Amino acid sequence: MTRYSRITGTGSYLPPRRLTNAELAAELATKGVETSDEWIVERTGIRARHFAAPDVSSSDLAVAAAKQALEAAGLLASDIDLIIVATSTPDMVFPSVACIVQNKLGIAGCPAFDVQAVCSGFIYALTVADALIKTGSATKALVIGAEVFSRILDFSDRTTCVLFGDGAGAVVLQASDTPGILASDLHADGKYVGILCVPGHVSGGQVVGDPLLKMDGQAVFKLAVGLLESTARATLAKANLSEADIDWMIPHQANIRIMQSTARKLKMPLEKVIVTVDQHGNTSAASIPLAMDVAVRDGKVKKGDTLLLEGVGGGFTWGAVLLNY
Ligand code: ACO
Repeated sequence: MTRYSRITGTGSYLPPRRLTNAELAAELATKGVETSDEWIVERTGIRARHFAAPDVSSSDLAVAAAKQALEAAGLLASDIDLIIVATSTPDMVFPSVACIVQNKLGIAGCPAFDVQAVCSGFIYALTVADALIKTGSATKALVIGAEVFSRILDFSDRTTCVLFGDGAGAVVLQASDTPGILASDLHADGKYVGILCVPGHVSGGQVVGDPLLKMDGQAVFKLAVGLLESTARATLAKANLSEADIDWMIPHQANIRIMQSTARKLKMPLEKVIVTVDQHGNTSAASIPLAMDVAVRDGKVKKGDTLLLEGVGGGFTWGAVLLNY
C-alpha cells in the first residue's frame, strides 16, 4: 500500500506584546524615524505585529505552538519521531532550534534539525518531512516555523522595520494510507542573495559585518509575484489539478499587495486567500503555519479541503505544497 503523509493537528503562538502601527510609529518617532499607520496599511496591509520579550527565543515560541499542534492531533510529545524547525533566527549559532525544542518537550532520541530557507522555510521543512514519512524513516513529525525577526531589524530603517513580527506555527504530519500531501515544488536561485539578507556573521568572537536585515523592497516585490505564480502552477500540474480545485490558498504573509497580485494572476478570488498579515506582519518561516492554524481554528479550513501553501523569501527561495487537509 502506498504510504502518504497527512496533517493531523495545527498550533500557533504569538508573544503577548502586540504593537499597532500607531504604537510602533510613536516608538520610532522617539528615535527620529518617521512613519505612519496610513503609509504602512496602504503599502503593506499590515496593522499590527507581535514582538517577543528580550528573554524569549524562537525555541520558546516553537514549543508553545508545538504543544497546541500535539493536542490538536491527540498525540503526546513522546509519540513524535521527527522534529524539523524552519527558522532564520535561531537561539544559538548551534545546536539547532529543533534540538532545543526536543529537550524542552522532554523527549530524546528522534532526529531533530533546522531548515534555513528564510520565508520559504516552512514549505521546505514540510516537503522534507513528507519525504521522510513516505520513505518510512518517520511516522509522526512535528514541523514548525518559528521566528524572532524583531532581533534582526534595523529600527532606524523605516523601509524594513515596520514589516516584520515574531511568532510560531506548527503542524503534526503523520503517515497515512490516504493523501495528505499531494504535491510539492521547491526552488532556489542564489544570484539574488543581495536583495534580501542579513549580511553579518560571527568570527573570532566578534560580529563581522552588519547583523541587521537589508532589503531592496521593490526588487523583492517584483520577483515574489512571478515566482509565486509559477510555483503554484507547477505544483498544481504535478497533482493534475487546477486553480479551481483549491479551496484555500495560504501564501507566505509578507504584504497584502503581493498576495492580491498573485491571486489575480492565478485568477483566484481573494475570498479564497487566507490573510493574517494584517495582524501578524511578516513572521518569515512562521507565517504560513501561523496563518493555517488561525484559519483552522476560525473554522475556515475544514477537514477534506484542498490547500495550496506557498512561500517565497531570501536566497532567493520559493516553493509550494498542495495538500488535502
Ligand atoms: N513610512 C513612511 N514612508 C516610508 C516608509 C515607511 N515605513 N518606508 C518607505 N517610505 C517612503 C520612502 O522613503 C519613499 O519616499 P520618497 O518617495 O520620498 O523617496 C516612499 O515611501 C516610497 O518608497 P518605496 O520603497 O518606493 O515604497 P514601495 O511602494 O516600494 O513600498 C515596500 C515599499 C512596502 C517595502 C514594498 O516595496 C514591498 O512590499 N516590497 C516587498 C518586500 C517584502 O514584502 N518583503 C518581505 C520580505 S521578503 C518576503 O517575505 C517575500
